[in-house]
Amino acid sequence: MSNKALGILISGRGSNMEAIIKASQANQINATVAVVISDKRDAKGIKIAKELGITTFVLDIKDFSTKQEYEDDICRILKGCSVDLVCLAGYMKIVGQTILESFKNRVINIHPSLLPAFRGLNAQKQALDYGVKFAGCSVHYVNDVLDGGPLILQDIVEVSGDDTEETLSQKILAKEHLIYPQAIQIVLESLSVK
Ligand code: GRF
Repeated sequence: MSNKALGILISGRGSNMEAIIKASQANQINATVAVVISDKRDAKGIKIAKELGITTFVLDIKDFSTKQEYEDDICRILKGCSVDLVCLAGYMKIVGQTILESFKNRVINIHPSLLPAFRGLNAQKQALDYGVKFAGCSVHYVNDVLDGGPLILQDIVEVSGDDTEETLSQKILAKEHLIYPQAIQIVLESLSVK
């Protein structure tokens, strides 16, 4: 399988992004991270990406008149970097039709719950409040239903009686870092047989 180009969209910490970049640099996946784009200037992930030698861009939606113009610019960068697959990694905006149509079935996301349970924000808190005994994370295709696209890969963690939102989030995050690169490899293999 030939090497594919990834574009990663982030808004903050960037730990999943870092896991993907490191998996790529260690040749654990057949992909190179061509570009990281953040919608937040102060995203910690931008600094990490730069340190790992990745091209980065910051696009603030406030600098555009419409969301479409903002997304047009994102697509222009992604296409300019010949990106094959777009990976959302803690990107806090809803992806609109402009990106979804330009990268049909080529936008994926990671969510810190066992979807379809606990969509949206604070999934780990939702899981704790519900009293689930197992929680986890899911990598899925992005469509126009929030956290509702087809699943690619999931993993579980056991919830213990003394877990807090903080400890549960940490347990889930450790699994996220493992399954996101694996899910990317699965998707890239499916693209190369098409
Ligand atoms: C992760 O928990 C991910 O599942 C969710 O946002 C968080 C991003 O964390 N979509 P990071 O920026 O990758 O560290």
